[in-house]
Amino acid sequence: MTAKKPLPGELDAIETASRDEISALQLTRLKWSVRHSYDNVAPYRQKCQEKGVHPDDLKTLEDLDKFPFMTKLDLRDNYPFGLFAVPRSQLARLHASSGTTGKSVVVGYTKNDIDNWADVVARSIRAAGGRAGDMVHVAYGYGMFTGGLGAHYGAERLGCTAVPMSGGQTEKQVQQILDFQPEIIMVTPSYSLVIAEEFERLGIKPEDISLKIGIFGAEPWGEGMRGEIEKKLGIDAIDIYGLTEVMGPGVACECIESKDGPVIWEDHFLPEIIDPETGEVLPDGKEGELVFTSLTKEAFPVIRYRTRDLTRLLPPTSRSFRRIGKITGRSDDMLIIRGVNLFPTQIEEQILRDPRLSGNYQVVVTREGHLDNLEVRCELQRELSGKLAPVELQVISTSLQQRIKTIIGVSVNITVMQFDGIPRTQVGKARRVLDERKKLN
Ligand code: DLL
Repeated sequence: MTAKKPLPGELDAIETASRDEISALQLTRLKWSVRHSYDNVAPYRQKCQEKGVHPDDLKTLEDLDKFPFMTKLDLRDNYPFGLFAVPRSQLARLHASSGTTGKSVVVGYTKNDIDNWADVVARSIRAAGGRAGDMVHVAYGYGMFTGGLGAHYGAERLGCTAVPMSGGQTEKQVQQILDFQPEIIMVTPSYSLVIAEEFERLGIKPEDISLKIGIFGAEPWGEGMRGEIEKKLGIDAIDIYGLTEVMGPGVACECIESKDGPVIWEDHFLPEIIDPETGEVLPDGKEGELVFTSLTKEAFPVIRYRTRDLTRLLPPTSRSFRRIGKITGRSDDMLIIRGVNLFPTQIEEQILRDPRLSGNYQVVVTREGHLDNLEVRCELQRELSGKLAPVELQVISTSLQQRIKTIIGVSVNITVMQFDGIPRTQVGKARRVLDERKKLN
């Protein structure tokens, strides 16, 4: 498909504004956002006071680096609503994602926040080549995850027909795509290949599939995967980035005419790259940890939120805003398994609920075909080692598997080993995660 450039007047004016105009808008909004957090979020105010900074100290965009960072730990410590900046009665919606322990991270939106979110997702779909009148098949999960509803409201906002299919039921997904003939699909890149394989199985060729554009995110993917998806589905594959804490999908999205990394919607989200060890702000182009400050959010403002995603900021190309490079990794141990965020400590918590198991475990991630596969290796307590019948081991394994599925939401394979079956580290930290997936190319 030949990439269409947007027509004059089709874009929001700010998307093609000068850097001076963008910076001026950002500074006005930044001052508002920092003051809003300081005035209405007690734990944030306390952090600022401990660091000896006040919203009045913010005179230029560069002054932001005097302010404290926010991390997932702050969200966990203030679970569920402690960081909200508006009264509960003004919340139009809640969403959630995984925290660093079993507890999830809860975020809230006012009516205006939902409106702004729909706007940036609509802008993202338009950047991806979508237009009013297109039909959008949404196969991101609906529910507490931001993917489904985030994509849905954006599609409607652009004037598209949203099809709220959600994830799973591959055969039904494919049948529905064949019956309804959507132009656009929004889904995780890994699941798009499962859908593509179902088309292959049915003997349907890429040129006979109605889809023209796919908007993929929620997990890392590389250029190799882009090529494969484009070939198998006969579409343009576009990268969309976002995270629950900052909004959901639509913090940044690629443009179809350049496909050179997601454009950050900088009028709503101010990016910084920092050295994850020292917290020092790094210049554009240098790789480090991505940090976001929300500029317009009312219910759940974030000031210098550490995403833990490692990437770099790239200069503007198709729009006036800067872009992010591919996410090359994370500065924490979060895994993304089939789009579900997961920390090894969440698995640990479930293992330790069974007194027959020792605290030693290992999580092994492999890729079978296009889907991630997770194996949890755990081991028996010393006194039970060698004493349990296979059927008893099976009971332990099945109940752990069910707890992980119910509480964390991922399917895993369990291997119960005898005591000392998991290698011990002689020095330093235990190696809890073996990620054997191929590196992204
Ligand atoms: O994954 C929001 C989303 C939904 C984005 C649908 C795009 C499409 P969380 O569940 O909070 O939110 O996970 C956020 O996922 O910090 C990244 O590590 C990873 N991630 C999201 N988009 C991309 C992407 C949603 N395009 C975490 N490339 C983020 C690489 C991504 N990683």
